[in-house]
Amino acid sequence: MSDRITISVIKADVGGYVGHSSIHSDLLETAKEKLSNALEKGHMVDFHVTRCGDDLELIMTHKHGTDNEDIHKLAWDTFLACTEVAKDLKLYGAGQDILKDAFTGTVKGLGPGVAEMEFEERKSEPIIVFMADKTSPGAWNLPLYRMFADPFNTAGLVIDPTMHEGFVFEVLDVHGHRKITLSCPEEAYDLLMFIGAMGRFMIRAVYRKDGEIAAAASTQKLSEIAGRYVGKDDPVLIVRSQSGLPAVGEILEPFAFPHLVEGWMRGSHHGPLMPVPFYEANPSRFDGPPRVIAAGFQLCHGKLIGPRDLFDDPSFDEARKKANEIANYMRHHGPFEPHRLGLDVMEYTTMPQLMKKLESRFKPE
Ligand code: F6R
Ligand code: MG
Ligand code: MG
Repeated sequence: MSDRITISVIKADVGGYVGHSSIHSDLLETAKEKLSNALEKGHMVDFHVTRCGDDLELIMTHKHGTDNEDIHKLAWDTFLACTEVAKDLKLYGAGQDILKDAFTGTVKGLGPGVAEMEFEERKSEPIIVFMADKTSPGAWNLPLYRMFADPFNTAGLVIDPTMHEGFVFEVLDVHGHRKITLSCPEEAYDLLMFIGAMGRFMIRAVYRKDGEIAAAASTQKLSEIAGRYVGKDDPVLIVRSQSGLPAVGEILEPFAFPHLVEGWMRGSHHGPLMPVPFYEANPSRFDGPPRVIAAGFQLCHGKLIGPRDLFDDPSFDEARKKANEIANYMRHHGPFEPHRLGLDVMEYTTMPQLMKKLESRFKPE
């Protein structure tokens, strides 16, 4: 019997508590209530509501495939209901990621971030949902490369005959609104040339060479939708694991290195991505540093058995310590690059006003 299942992770920041540091429990309760009603009506197989920093995360399993209008509408309506609660409590930035007035059949392009995948559930189906705050979708490039293409990270690429062929990466060029597919290990150097530029090229999906989906990431850029700064994108990522795919430990391993990502204060600084347990996903120092959490589930006929809080492990203590050291080092640069992002990618800037004001004082030299 076909056991095809879709997992949709749809997220939005609809109000922060306090400032942009975390989320109020009333928002989580409202979201759970909305999704429970939909579950009772048979619209879904299962759901889990959680949060990372100020982002509300809806994890849903269902039989409707990706880009399904009903599922997207359910998420949209849930975010609207939570926005009302956020407004009542005067939470910070209430409705921040609700960028458009009307639902148009999909939440894509309206503000929320989306990662989805459909597959035939295997005999056992371990999946990991990564959720980040105070950063942008390019943050997944380095860890995804390590998981699926770096033999120094993933032992299975070398010693597991079912993984030895490698994987295929789908990369989005956010500026050109186009995508390219590159195959590893053959095209690893080509792939790295693109994905090293994390602000422009983002890995959207990874496939096994037989076409089986292995990973899917959200790649929505809020600033591209709104045409101005409206908060960081705070991306999500779904990764399937084991039995011919990287093991859970190989998928988590890249996060033992807290790499530098864009985001942090005012979406305009480089800082380390710190892997934390759920209860520590409250970025407060200089509105950061950026955080990532990992929720592990065993799927059982679409039911989400879990989550297990996968970074709640002392073996990630060193990464957290290192992230704090890097945070101190970066912070000492204050308003200087490369802590502060380059002028062309900064989300906030006073430069146009400043240039206008001082224009007449620039003299030929
Ligand atoms: C970063 C973020 C925060 C805000 C900062 C200023 O993604 O959301 O760092 O940019 O707290 O917020 P405003 O401009 O709303 O006062
Ligand atoms: Mg916010
Ligand atoms: Mg956020």
